[in-house]
Amino acid sequence: MRRDWERRAKENARHYVVTGQEQWSDEEFYQSGQTTVAEEVLNDMENICQGLDPKQMKVLEIGCGAGRVTRALAGLFGEVYAVDISREMVRQARQAVAGFPGARIFHNNGRDLRVVAYNWWNRFGIGRQVQVDFAFSVIVFQHIPSRRIIESYVREVHRLLRPGGLFKFQVQGAAEAEPDESWVGEAFTAEQAAEMAERCGFELRHQYGAGEQYYWLWFFKK
Ligand SMILES: C[S@@+](CC[C@H](N)C(=O)[O-])C[C@H]1O[C@@H](n2cnc3c(N)ncnc32)[C@H](O)[C@@H]1O
Repeated sequence: MRRDWERRAKENARHYVVTGQEQWSDEEFYQSGQTTVAEEVLNDMENICQGLDPKQMKVLEIGCGAGRVTRALAGLFGEVYAVDISREMVRQARQAVAGFPGARIFHNNGRDLRVVAYNWWNRFGIGRQVQVDFAFSVIVFQHIPSRRIIESYVREVHRLLRPGGLFKFQVQGAAEAEPDESWVGEAFTAEQAAEMAERCGFELRHQYGAGEQYYWLWFFKK
């Protein structure tokens, strides 16, 4: 996964992040991130903020790519932590959020969120547990060809999320093609999604798009 995403990032990161266009200007690319946030976050602030002031909230993004959505999240929330498996994506994401002091982008190992906790310890002392208020991921798990890794992330989010907090994420819901090394991910049925929520300590309260590529899940930490 790491090798493939590194290659894609160096070849044409923005195209592999959103395949709709071969070339993206800064303006178009960041506008598409704003659109994603308008469609998936701004219209869902009740579930996401639960009465908290967004500027006081810590938010986590898994698979930030070139910072398309991260930048929009950084304009909305107080602190944003984002991880990605590709160093080149991380480099581009850092450029995207330059000017947003509350945004931190980390290169991770592709399966857990230890790097976020380590960074927190460096800032505030070993043993201090980072706690995020909301976690988000889009167009990432649909590329991960391993249910075990996806579930590892879900457990990791559970570890870092505050009780009652929301992990809103998208998985592949259409089992059209066989999973491959890093482009076609494992698909989830509604039953599999509900079982994963239960196993990982979440309540699956809402869902949208079962059977489709964009299958959205609302996991609330119990
Ligand atoms: C299609 S891009 C989407 C990027 C971003 N979420 C967006 O919507 O703009 C998928 C991203 O997920 C990252 N990725 C893929 N597998 C990953 C994994 N196991 N852990 C972390 N990041 C991963 C890739 O490096 C790539 O940057």
